[in-house]
This record gives sequence, C-alpha cells and structure tokens, in this order.
Amino acid sequence: MAKLILTTRDGTVAPIEAEPGLTVMEIIRDSGVDEMLAICGGCCSCATCHVYVAPEFAARMPAVGDDENDLLDSSDYRQEHSRLACQLAFSADLDGLQVTLAPEG
Ligand code: FES
Repeated sequence: MAKLILTTRDGTVAPIEAEPGLTVMEIIRDSGVDEMLAICGGCCSCATCHVYVAPEFAARMPAVGDDENDLLDSSDYRQEHSRLACQLAFSADLDGLQVTLAPEG
C-alpha cells in the first residue's frame, strides 16, 4: 500500500496508509487525525483541509482551481505550496507524498 507522510500541527510526522483513488483529505480524515476537520466534506467550500505540500511534490499536484484559490486567499496562513487536501487526488505514483497540516484559520 502506498503511503502518505503527514506532519500534524504539533510536528509529529507519521506515515499513513494511502489508498489510490481517494483524496488526500479523505486519507487523512479516515486515518483518524481529528485535526483535519474537513467540515464541508470535500465540496471545496470550507478550507478546513488546508495543507502544505512538500516542495518536491508541489509540481506534481493538479492546478489550483478558482474556488480553491479564493478559499486559500481567505486564510491567514497561505504559503507558496498551500493546497486544499480535498482537491488533491492520491495516486500510487504519489507514494511518499509529504503534507503538513496548516494552522487553523
Ligand atoms: S474539505 Fe472543505 S474545502 Fe476541503
């Protein structure tokens, strides 16, 4: 099984089993990480699934959509590689993908 490497807000780094076909948000949420609120369930309307994608993986992510861009702009914590995890489909070739949970807000 492919893995996603998650860094939580307290700096804990942990590999998570990652099923291709799910979104990064679904993988994190389903792993039991309660810091991933994902309030809208993946409809791209809440921004509570904000993550930072490691730079070496950023170019392999899909383009940022208009709605995603607007939501990220509403965050005080947007950075260069900010993404909404619900907009990132995981695939086997992304094995080892590293993401960090952004602060809330
Ligand atoms: S889960 Fe709401 S925007 Fe991603």
